[in-house]
Amino acid sequence: MKSTILAAHQYGQPEVLEFAQYELPPLAAGMARIQVKASGINPIDARRMTGEFKHAALPQTFGTEYAGIIAEVDGSQNEWTVGDEVLGSGGAFTHATVIDVPLANLIRKPKNIDWPIAGTIAGAAQTAMTILDETGPAQSLLVHGGSGGVGSIVVQLAVEKGIEVVATASAANQDYIRKLGAIAVTYGEGLVERLKAVHPTPFDVSIDMIGSEEATQTSLAVVKVGGFMGSIAGRKLSSNKIQPVWVKRNTKNLQHVVDGIADGRFTWTVSREYAFKDAQQAYSDILEGHTKGKSVLVFE
Ligand SMILES: NC(=O)c1ccc[n+]([C@@H]2O[C@H](COP(=O)([O-])OP(=O)(O)OC[C@H]3O[C@@H](n4cnc5c(N)ncnc54)[C@H](OP(=O)(O)O)[C@@H]3O)[C@@H](O)[C@H]2O)c1
Repeated sequence: MKSTILAAHQYGQPEVLEFAQYELPPLAAGMARIQVKASGINPIDARRMTGEFKHAALPQTFGTEYAGIIAEVDGSQNEWTVGDEVLGSGGAFTHATVIDVPLANLIRKPKNIDWPIAGTIAGAAQTAMTILDETGPAQSLLVHGGSGGVGSIVVQLAVEKGIEVVATASAANQDYIRKLGAIAVTYGEGLVERLKAVHPTPFDVSIDMIGSEEATQTSLAVVKVGGFMGSIAGRKLSSNKIQPVWVKRNTKNLQHVVDGIADGRFTWTVSREYAFKDAQQAYSDILEGHTKGKSVLVFE
């Protein structure tokens, strides 16, 4: 079976992206072959494209989450059959029409979740759950960048736990942050004062989605001594008091978020939808860093 995959033979701007035809090898044990219906686009895809992470060897492929239909499955596995609608995550290959994925990180797509939403859940959901697992018990949380893919769900998961959440975003996304259940504050000059006005006592925890000097200095100013300050941005920061946090794949965590979306407890926003053929435009837009909720590639 052939797959059309998004690939790049050099680092650079979206012009380096090209479509390649790939003949899939026979399906390996413990794997399923998925006809992809939708696949989320994440900042990491575009950052790898530009060469920010030079350890990504060339040529490189992209995409870390998907939803689709099982086209073939390892025959020794009874739990899954051809035609099952599923979603999951995997490393840097899901922006393709057909993909082979391990059965271990596969879950069923609820019927009432549309493909574009289903294809964007796995990465952000598992990252957000990892954040809350690693930050430990807290009564108050500051989220730098609460309106993007990870921020939108980390806010809701924290609110679900009864944590008081304050989240930053641009002026355009203040109502959206409030809808997610957090106190909204605009980032930019004067941030510390605005935070102290809405939350006069020190925060137990902060988590940074940006990796900016403003986020670093603000966390140092408003988080209590001994509180947890984390960053998922994967950028070099000026203070080693901010702990890097990296996503851990955990199917139970993913199922928790999927269940919450299916039963309406969590809002899941997909603000931009692109046909697979328009991947260059999609990558160009995600590089801007102001996605509301998620962006997705959809496949015919
Ligand atoms: N460590 C890991 O395992 C891991 C996992 C997933 C993602 N990541 C990384 O985490 C980062 C966030 O991912 P994401 O998917 O949530 O990104 P995203 O969807 O692009 O969201 C970016 C967010 O940042 C906000 N923002 C932009 N500029 C800002 C600024 N100067 N100050 C404060 N907020 C600002 C945006 O709000 P406005 O639009 O309102 O400006 C938006 O809420 C990315 O760098 C990604 O590569 C790491």
